This record gives sequence, C-alpha cells and structure tokens, in this order.
Amino acid sequence: MKAMASAPAKMILFGEHSVVYDEPAIAGAVNKRAFVEIKKSYSNKSILRSFDLKFEVELDTINKTYTLKKGKPGIIRYILEALNRVHDHTPILMNLSSQIPIGSGLGSSAAVTVATLAALYRYHNIRFNKKSLAHDAHMVEQAVQGVASPLDTLVSTYGGLVYLSRKKKFEPLKINFNAPFVVGYTTKHGNTGKMVKDVRTLKDKNPKIINPVITAMGNITNYAKQAIFKKDYKKIGELMNINHGFLDVLGVNTPELSRMVYTARECGAIGSKITGAGGGGSIIALCPGKIEDVAEGISRQDNVLRVKFTKRGVSSRVRW
Ligand code: PMV
Repeated sequence: MKAMASAPAKMILFGEHSVVYDEPAIAGAVNKRAFVEIKKSYSNKSILRSFDLKFEVELDTINKTYTLKKGKPGIIRYILEALNRVHDHTPILMNLSSQIPIGSGLGSSAAVTVATLAALYRYHNIRFNKKSLAHDAHMVEQAVQGVASPLDTLVSTYGGLVYLSRKKKFEPLKINFNAPFVVGYTTKHGNTGKMVKDVRTLKDKNPKIINPVITAMGNITNYAKQAIFKKDYKKIGELMNINHGFLDVLGVNTPELSRMVYTARECGAIGSKITGAGGGGSIIALCPGKIEDVAEGISRQDNVLRVKFTKRGVSSRVRW
C-alpha cells in the first residue's frame, strides 16, 4: 500500500508581519505543489528521498534526527516533526517532490507539512478533516519555527483565496480571482523566524512609530479585500505599493527584493511588493497585460515563477 498526498504553495497578497500582531491578512493557494508518498520499507530503515530537491536521508523518527546520504535537505525538520507526532516509527520509504522553491516565501514548508501529515494519516488510516489537518500542520510549523501564524497552513489545506480576520477568523473568499501575477525570487533564502523576531525588536524599541504602521497595514488588507471583490486591479496595485513601503519600514526589504519590486514596476506592473517574510525570498507583481514584459525584466537578474491561483487545496489517497 502506498499513501499519497499533495498540497499547494501560497502567496500572501496582504498582511505578512502585521498578521503576527492580529491584523488581517489575505493569501491564496497557487498552482505549484509539494507531493509526498509513503510506503512500507522492507529493510529496517526509514528513508526519505527527494529527486527534485536532490537529497536522501535515513530518518530517526523517534529522536527527530537523520543521517545524510546525499545532498542537502532544507525542509526536513518539518517532516521529522510531523513523523514524530503521527508515525508509529516502523520503517517507511518516503518520497518528496516539490515544484515550490524552498525558502522563497511561497509557503514550501507549509505545503510539505500539510502533505506529509495527510499522507501519514492515510498510511495509518487515521480519520482527519481539513479543520483538524490545518490545525495539526500549524502545530508542526509552530514547533519548528517558534512563531507561525496559521495562515500558510490554512491556505495550503483549504486552497483558494483566504481572508484571516483580526480575530483570526478564517474566511474563504468566494470569488473567481484570476489576477495575473508574476513571482520573482532570489536564490537568497529568507528566514521567517528571524524576520519576525527582528520586526518585534524594532516595534518594541519604537512603539509609537511602528504600532501605527502595523495598524495601517491591517487597514490596507481590509481595503484590498473590497478591491478584490470589485476586481479593481488598479486599487489592488496601489495598495500593494503602499504595503511594500511599510514592509520596507519594518526592515524586511533587501537590495535584491527592492530591485525586483522596482524592475517589475518599470516593466509595467501596476503593483509590486514583497510576499512572505522578506529578508530574501520573493516578490509578487500584479501585471495585467504585461506578464511577459515583467517576467522578462525580472529574469534578467533574478528568477521568475509564473503562478495562477487555484481552488485546489490538499488532496490525498491510498493506492493498493
Ligand atoms: O515566510 P512565509 O511566506 O511563510 O511568510 C511568513 C509570514 C509572516 O507574517 C512574516 C509570519 C507568519 O507566521 O505569519
């Protein structure tokens, strides 16, 4: 028997960092996925392989450690944490493949966590639903990262476009939103935990300046929600640009991210901003009618991913 699951990457449109302080956020699942397969191992070892990510490790699921056989595993702490919580420690063969660049701010860790948990539940025939899965995946992210909002794991589980309110209430946005976005990413990875900590330090040192910025970011998200329902791209773009300015204020911008944000605008994007934690990772650009120009502009120095929103969240099954 083989248990299989996959889960999508996400793009945060509005509200990264301010969401940590209970401001609202909007994020959407995109059509790049992480895939996990689990089957019984007939040796006495548990092995995790990833052809795409070019690594192979022997897993110690009890002690949450591993022995490296090949390559450099980036995302393994999430997998070990999930295994440690769910698996009965019998030998397994795990295969991971991913279309999501690791550390790019596109939620690769959440997608891998959600897919791993769903595959494990299938493998052990444990009943689950999206609510319990999103909750468990958030617990795994929190255990590994220290701080994590539930946004990534919610989006990766449910798919679609999601609004998280000030009271952490989760609201799927029932709208067909096919806005044309280009993602630009650098090979410099962001470290979400560190960025969240740095923002907190800045905020603690300058509360009178940073608190209003965070409140304003929350207001941007709420205006953006209205603009999304009206499909008012011009307004969405304007709000993205303002939001980017505030993210810069919070100190999460880098020269590379800045370069991509302004290149996108020069090439015709009507809005562009950091997406995710910053400090490296990705930007998103809204570019109706200008996708190719913007993609070409960014790819002169950085990398481009063409993504589409998807309603498809986690999916899992068993094959005998
Ligand atoms: O690094 P990402 O894409 O997972 O985004 C993190 C978003 C933050 O608001 C900075 C942190 C969080 O947990 O919400």
